[in-house]
Amino acid sequence: GYVRNVGVGVRVSELAHGTLAGLAEIADIGRDARRGGYSRQLWQGPDLELRAWFALRAERLGLAVETDRNGNLWAWWGTPGPDAVVTGSHLDSVPGGGAYDGPLGVVSALEAIGRLQASGFTPSRPCAVLVFAEEEGSRFGIACLGSRLLTGGIDADRARALTDADGITLAEAAATAGLDPRRLGADPEALARIGLFLELHVEQGRGLIDLGRPVAVASSILAHGRWRLTVSGQGNHAGTTLMTGRRDPMVAAARAIVAVQETAAAIPGARATVGRLEVVPGGTNVIASSVHAWLDARCDTEAGTRALVAAITAQVERAVSLNGCSVAVTEESWTGTVAFDAALAGRFAAALGGVPALPTGAGHDAGVLSASVPSAMLFVRNPTGISHSPEEFAEVEDCVAGIDALEALLRSLL
Ligand code: GLV
Ligand code: MN
Ligand code: MN
Ligand code: MN
Repeated sequence: GYVRNVGVGVRVSELAHGTLAGLAEIADIGRDARRGGYSRQLWQGPDLELRAWFALRAERLGLAVETDRNGNLWAWWGTPGPDAVVTGSHLDSVPGGGAYDGPLGVVSALEAIGRLQASGFTPSRPCAVLVFAEEEGSRFGIACLGSRLLTGGIDADRARALTDADGITLAEAAATAGLDPRRLGADPEALARIGLFLELHVEQGRGLIDLGRPVAVASSILAHGRWRLTVSGQGNHAGTTLMTGRRDPMVAAARAIVAVQETAAAIPGARATVGRLEVVPGGTNVIASSVHAWLDARCDTEAGTRALVAAITAQVERAVSLNGCSVAVTEESWTGTVAFDAALAGRFAAALGGVPALPTGAGHDAGVLSASVPSAMLFVRNPTGISHSPEEFAEVEDCVAGIDALEALLRSLL
C-alpha cells in the first residue's frame, strides 16, 4: 500500500526494505510542496544532501568517491580507469519533477554492484558509478551540463558565465560548492578513464507500455535544442495607457507561443514547447517591457530540427509584429541526433536475450558521452507514460527487471 504518497510516485513502503531501498532513503529529499514532486537543483540544499547520501551509499560498498573538476561524482570499484565500465545517471531534477528520472539509474547502479560483490564476482577491469551534475539544466539553463563540460562539449568560459535565476554565475556557484572555477571545462584525463558508459533510466514515454515489456535498450535520441525568444515592446503604466497603440510583449508572446504550437503541429514528428517564461519587470499594474520565452524544439533529424526552428522563427516574428513588438531568437544549446553504439547493443542482445530497442525524444548524458565513448542505455517501463512530472512512475517489479539487466550486462562486460 501507499504509506506516503504526497503526489509523488514512490510507494515508500514497498521500497523501504527491498531492492530499491535507495529510492526510499531519498524520498523526502527535495520535495516541492508548492509545485508538487521534487525540485533538486544543482548544488542547492537537496542536491547537496543527495550528493552526501550517494557518497555514503557508495562508501558502504567500499567504492572510492571523488568529485571531478566539473562537479560530477565518481565512485570507483577498484583502481580508477583506463577502459573502465562506467554506469550511472543524475540526481538533479526538473522543477516539480518525478522520483525516478535520474535517481533510478544511480540507485540501480549501486544495487547492481552490490549484488555482484555479494555473489563474490571479481571484476577484471575497473568499474565506476558516475553521477552527472546539472543534467536537467534546471539551474543554469543548459541540459547535460556536467557531461558537456567533461567532454568539452561546451566552451568553459561560456559555461562559467551562465547565470541562475538569482544572477549567480556557474563560476560563483562552483566556488561555493568547493570547486575551482578556473578548472571547469574539458577534462580529458577523467574522460579517458571511461571505456564505455551505460545509463539505466525510467522511460519517459509510452514505448514499453505499447510493447508490453518491462525493459528496452535505447536505439537513438532525437536532435534537440533550446532557444531563447526575447520579445521586446514598450513598458508602461497599466492604468494610464489606452489599449490602442500599446506594444505589449505579453500579448505578443502569447501569439508567439500559439505560433510555436501551430508550426510544430503541422510538421510530422516535430515537438516544440514553451514551458518557461520570464516577464520583465513582471508587475500586475505594469505593461511589460520584454518577455523571455524558452523554446525546446526536437525533430527526427538534425536538418528537420533546424528547419523546424527556422519555420518557428519566421512565424514568431510575424506573430509579435501584430502587437508592434520585435523578437530575437538565440540558440542556447544544441544536441545532434544520437545513434547509440551498435556493437554495444549487440552485446546487450546477447546478454539479455531479445530485448526491444526504442528511440527516445528525451536527452541524456549518455547521448552527450556517445560522441566520445561507446554508450548505451536501458529503459525501464513507466506505466503512466508521463515524465518531468510528479506522475512519473515505475513498478517495483520493472525496476527489479532493470537492475537484473544492468547486473547481467556489468557481469558480461567486467
Ligand atoms: C532532459 O531530460 C531533456 O530531455 O530535456
Ligand atoms: Mn529529465
Ligand atoms: Mn534523466
Ligand atoms: Mn534528461
